[in-house]
Amino acid sequence: MVVRVLMNEVAPGAAGPGDVVADAVLEELYAYPDTGARAWVRANMVATIDGAAAGNDGRTGTINTEADLVVFTLLRDLADVVLVGAGTARAEGYRRPGPRGAQRRARALAQGRAAHPALAVVSRSAHVPPLLAAPEPDRGQVWMLTCQEAGEEALERARAVLGAERVLVLGEAEVDLFAAVEALRERGMPRVLCEGGPRLLRDVAAEGVLDELCLTVVPVLAAGVEQRITAGAGVDQVLVPRLLLEGGGTLLHRWIRP
Ligand SMILES: NC(=O)c1ccc[n+]([C@@H]2O[C@H](COP(=O)([O-])OP(=O)(O)OC[C@H]3O[C@@H](n4cnc5c(N)ncnc54)[C@H](OP(=O)(O)O)[C@@H]3O)[C@@H](O)[C@H]2O)c1
Repeated sequence: MVVRVLMNEVAPGAAGPGDVVADAVLEELYAYPDTGARAWVRANMVATIDGAAAGNDGRTGTINTEADLVVFTLLRDLADVVLVGAGTARAEGYRRPGPRGAQRRARALAQGRAAHPALAVVSRSAHVPPLLAAPEPDRGQVWMLTCQEAGEEALERARAVLGAERVLVLGEAEVDLFAAVEALRERGMPRVLCEGGPRLLRDVAAEGVLDELCLTVVPVLAAGVEQRITAGAGVDQVLVPRLLLEGGGTLLHRWIRP
């Protein structure tokens, strides 16, 4: 897949407008910033030109492109933990994350990080999505980030499936996402990759914990009734464009909180 730079303000020395981007440069363009003691929350979402966040079958698989897949895979490799709403985990049939690519896995292990990114599911109900219930030792750990509203019975079920230490109760009626990100950081996962969905992304932005949005725009009009990449009560989150790439007609953006 040939990916070209259209704009680059994240690592100007690495590549300029018109340059074709090699894998190592792509990694540099998407490197997590060094934020010292705090976590960095990056979201990665895909949309059609007319703003649909899923194909007409309600899944993103029908709007993904090759360029999107390249960046999707890279961003998972670079993250310590994938944060996902339970709705997306159910709709998209999420499994535990597989291993990072060989080089990045070796580097992660040398840095004392896990071989696989973990998966943290945000859920008010604390219902563990079925495909995440079975243990898979060669894949990443699953965390349940939930709240009191789930009720003791559901919490006990989740603890029985995932292990008590992997079920975190963070808030009363909804998950306190600030506390959630802090809890992940304290457990050695400061590089957070939020893969949505629209309701979770809205809450992440509303609670002021979104540092960055990687947005893929695929060259398709979809119409239909699918949501946009955010859903729910209004928010007012300003983001600044810092990177724009193009591959096969797909646009790949990095928008960063000023
Ligand atoms: N375009 C993209 O990049 C993209 C990315 C992801 C998903 N999607 C699409 O989005 C659709 C799914 O949308 P969705 O709105 O259902 O997804 P979602 O945001 O992943 O899921 C909503 C669910 O997540 C939990 N949740 C979210 N925020 C919460 C909070 N602050 N506190 C407690 N629980 C919280 C709740 O789970 P419980 O119901 O368990 O309580 C809620 O019902 C699918 O069609 C999927 O394909 C698109």
